[in-house]
Amino acid sequence: MAERDSLTGERPDSGWIVRDAIPDDDGAACLEIYAPFVRDSFVSFEERVPTLEDFAQRIRAATTTHAWLVLELAGQVVGYAYASAHRSRAAYRWAVDVTVYIGPSYRRSGAGRRLYTELLERLRRQRFEVACAGITLPNDASVGLHRAMGFEPVGVYKRIGWKMGAWRDVSWWQLELAPATDAPPTELLRAIEAWPDPPMSRR
Ligand SMILES: CC(C)(COP(=O)(O)OP(=O)(O)OC[C@H]1O[C@@H](n2cnc3c(N)ncnc32)[C@H](O)[C@@H]1OP(=O)(O)O)[C@@H](O)C(=O)NCCC(=O)NCCS
Repeated sequence: MAERDSLTGERPDSGWIVRDAIPDDDGAACLEIYAPFVRDSFVSFEERVPTLEDFAQRIRAATTTHAWLVLELAGQVVGYAYASAHRSRAAYRWAVDVTVYIGPSYRRSGAGRRLYTELLERLRRQRFEVACAGITLPNDASVGLHRAMGFEPVGVYKRIGWKMGAWRDVSWWQLELAPATDAPPTELLRAIEAWPDPPMSRR
């Protein structure tokens, strides 16, 4: 884990790499991070762990339309973040849902912030206007991360899902990716147009 400098509070360059996920190579590592949240928590509302094939297909789909990024340390994927359509109806197309999962050993080390910083930049380049995040409550870490990234609370869906023996509330958060104006939005760029040759960014 990247420790803060005791004087400046900064985290040193830790050799972390943020890069696009490669569906067939990174699927297993991402699924390993995600599976416990399906099996043992209400963070994800899925009830069955997806197969590796299904999960790789999710990565493929997100990469085509939006982005799926992984955070790599010493050749190991330690977290991931991705975006997908908020709703399928056409007028919603400038709105995305974002989410992020970090492996247990790397939490509160700046990993989530690094992934989101890059993901949100990708989404801006594609001309998405607003990023949304739904957080099953309670989840102090996720609320803290979204607040730290500038998301604002929108409202809470009460008792919207049943998981692990109880009704669960979901808090929704929103971030303007572009300055809010009344002008019509610019048409979206496809991921490949916005990032024809995505740089492998070292942070
Ligand atoms: C939520 C999660 C992605 C946050 O990522 P992370 O790498 O641990 O967070 P970071 O270290 O980048 O923290 C960035 C900021 O978020 C806030 N934050 C992070 N963890 C926090 C916590 N446990 N409590 C309160 N605030 C927290 C802080 O403001 C932090 O900045 P600081 O460390 O300078 O104070 C991570 O905890 C995780 O994977 N949790 C399990 C899966 C999950 O809940 N995913 C979100 C689904 S909605």
